Amino acid sequence: MCGIVGYVGTECCAHLLLSGLRRLEYRGYDSAGIAIANDDGQVQVCRAEGKLTNLEQAYRQEPFDGAIGVGHTRWATHGRPSESNAHPHRAGRVVVAHNGIIENYLELKEKLTAQGREFTSETDTEVVAHLIDEAWNPSTRSLHEATCEALEEIEGSYALAVISTENPEELVVARNASPMVIARGRDCAFAASDVPAVLDHTRRFIFLHDGDTAVLRTGGIEVFDSNGEPVEREVKRIAWDPISAEKQGYKHFMLKEIHEQPARITDTLRGRVSVDRGEVHLPELGLDEQTVQKLDKIVFVACGTSFFAAQIAKYMIEEVARIPVETDLASEFRYRNPLISDDTLAIAISQSGETADTLAAIREAGERGARTLGIVNVIESTIAREADGVIYTHAGPEIGVASTKAFTTQLTAVAMLAIKLGRLKGTLDVAQARELIEALRHVPAEMENLLQDSSLYEKLARGYSQAKSFLYLGRGNQYPIAMEGALKLKEISYIHAEGYAAGEMKHGPIALIDRNMPVVVLSPRNSVYEKTASNLEEVKARGGRIIAIGTEGDERLDAFSDVVIPLPKVHEFVQPLISVVVVQLIAYHIADFKGTDIDQPRNLAKSVTVE
Ligand code: G6P
Repeated sequence: MCGIVGYVGTECCAHLLLSGLRRLEYRGYDSAGIAIANDDGQVQVCRAEGKLTNLEQAYRQEPFDGAIGVGHTRWATHGRPSESNAHPHRAGRVVVAHNGIIENYLELKEKLTAQGREFTSETDTEVVAHLIDEAWNPSTRSLHEATCEALEEIEGSYALAVISTENPEELVVARNASPMVIARGRDCAFAASDVPAVLDHTRRFIFLHDGDTAVLRTGGIEVFDSNGEPVEREVKRIAWDPISAEKQGYKHFMLKEIHEQPARITDTLRGRVSVDRGEVHLPELGLDEQTVQKLDKIVFVACGTSFFAAQIAKYMIEEVARIPVETDLASEFRYRNPLISDDTLAIAISQSGETADTLAAIREAGERGARTLGIVNVIESTIAREADGVIYTHAGPEIGVASTKAFTTQLTAVAMLAIKLGRLKGTLDVAQARELIEALRHVPAEMENLLQDSSLYEKLARGYSQAKSFLYLGRGNQYPIAMEGALKLKEISYIHAEGYAAGEMKHGPIALIDRNMPVVVLSPRNSVYEKTASNLEEVKARGGRIIAIGTEGDERLDAFSDVVIPLPKVHEFVQPLISVVVVQLIAYHIADFKGTDIDQPRNLAKSVTVE
């Protein structure tokens, strides 16, 4: 989730690169850098930790310029945010800016080190620069050919922009599972990870396909497909203004982030699961079999949406690894004199890694002797640094205050953790692990289908946005989703909503049910389906208006519900990842219909660093 901008042409480009990065700062902002080659082929690099202003300041102190260059703004995935980990990375004659994740970088780094290559960063990207430099003999092959050869060794996702000292006329780019656009200008060409970076200069873009590479020169652009054959790609005209371009044409960041979820889940799984071997690799976890065997319990601490991820973790881990799990709101845990032993594993779930209550709670658990783990989105955040182990989610920067993609990547991390613990504990055999990993790997495609059509939600928003209060019901692993659905609606539409365990309805909320109270029931086909369906009938008998979220083709739900939102059939273990998208969309479309400030709802903050 970083940003790349590149230029080759006849003008000095430092200003263009810096203004392009400014347009991309929303994609990542823990460090940034530019590299520019002058006519003699000297490449100068300037990088700085922190926000873009730091880079601008550093550049102003020692300016340089030239007519070909690349820039990068970073959201760390491998290696802390620091100047040495900032892009572009240089190896010999080659300079590279990269978005994505190189899965086999450790292996490649080992091989390159054995060949005498020296590394100056902790990033996965630096191996790409070394591989290209290693493959490149300028007297026999082009920079493009060397790049293609290097790419054959790489597993993972990438958008790459490559320049060199030997050939200051060519900018080479490549794309695989990470976006890259290119464009022709008058006597120049542009490359960017996202349209907004160069929208001030052109509106006509080529969106590269996965596996494509391209060579950009002053005089034109050549595109090659994954077989290395020249290919024509359609030029598309973009009418977006720069602000809607940042949202990739979506009306709000929240909607963009909802739609990004399949890709971010894929990123979170990338390189960490093997279906064939039924294995989960989480090296940063720091847990061995002996420690897991001895665990007396796992305690999760979290706030807000992250707390609901913790509640789903309880269902997943207890089911799969048979280890007792407690979940605590961090603000409660820290003041309740909790029972913790040296054999307790305490896990903090936090998108930001900085939430004051969560940080205090995990510190408290550590001081009482627990081993600690963070499930965190922001690299090198305080929780990530202080915990004994960490699993990073790869959601990328989340701009909308209401959490969406951070939540589903947390669920992905938690699901992997459950499988890992099950294998270490011996409660899950290889075949069972395979089945669960397979189910997880299917989630992005199923989610993609679910996101195709919004007409049902728009209609629902028209019919229900006048309601004063909503009730969300669910059982089992759908109960936390009911609470998350209610939270989403409250946060962005300002309509009161409550999430309840369906079985508890008769102990109170049933008194509220009448024609004015929409009841959203999460009832996919699963082990508690029959029970939830009878709760639904109780609501119907009292005249409630039911919005049912159930498995496609479920005629029983059709008979009882005013609206049915169909879910694809997926394994029960991963059902929360799918059904949560529906409650996110219900909240989004109702709020949009009401015209509230969806990305920055009143009184809320993205990261709550005070108690
Ligand atoms: C704030 C945000 C929520 C988030 C919660 C916990 O309240 O508005 O969206 O779930 O903090 O944040 P964390 O960064 O710890 O996940």
